[in-house]
Amino acid sequence: MSFTNKVVIVTGSSSGIGASTAILFAREGAKVTITGRNVEKLNKVEKEIDKLTGNKPLAIVADISKEDDAIGIVNKTVSHFGKLDVLVNNAGVVSYRGIFDSDYLTEFDRIMSTNLRAAATMTYAAMPHLVTTRAT
Ligand SMILES: NC(=O)c1ccc[n+]([C@@H]2O[C@H](COP(=O)([O-])OP(=O)(O)OC[C@H]3O[C@@H](n4cnc5c(N)ncnc54)[C@H](OP(=O)(O)O)[C@@H]3O)[C@@H](O)[C@H]2O)c1
Repeated sequence: MSFTNKVVIVTGSSSGIGASTAILFAREGAKVTITGRNVEKLNKVEKEIDKLTGNKPLAIVADISKEDDAIGIVNKTVSHFGKLDVLVNNAGVVSYRGIFDSDYLTEFDRIMSTNLRAAATMTYAAMPHLVTTRAT
């Protein structure tokens, strides 16, 4: 399948699986939006994609656990590239805290707001754009 001129958001693409996924999409011809909270790591991936593919990504510093930031990623992508074809909800955090830890519920909220609610928020914001591009 060709991704030439497809517009793809990969959340959590400042490192790890997300960074590799964004690089692969760009190599396949996609225009990619990369996101994360860490500016230095995000800049590094941005430069790598540009160097490897000549396909300059849109880099957005954002905390997806904040609703406005998450919706902003979708809006800025559509405003920059004109459409959205693919959303990869990759960003996530791992925690090894358990029920015996005093901050258990605080940690529970952090994990849920990042790994679950943010993915729902991103998908909800992206959905009208995905429906539009699927029909064209
Ligand atoms: N590696 C594994 O074996 C494995 C196994 C099962 C599931 N997973 C899941 O696969 C995904 C990627 O894993 P990985 O190993 O590549 O992890 P990673 O290297 O730690 O990458 C996680 C990414 O998520 C971003 N992120 C985390 N919290 C964020 C937030 N609040 N707002 C915006 N970005 C946020 C990080 O960016 P910043 O730090 O720049 O914010 C980073 O780019 C995660 O969801 C992980 O839980 C991984």
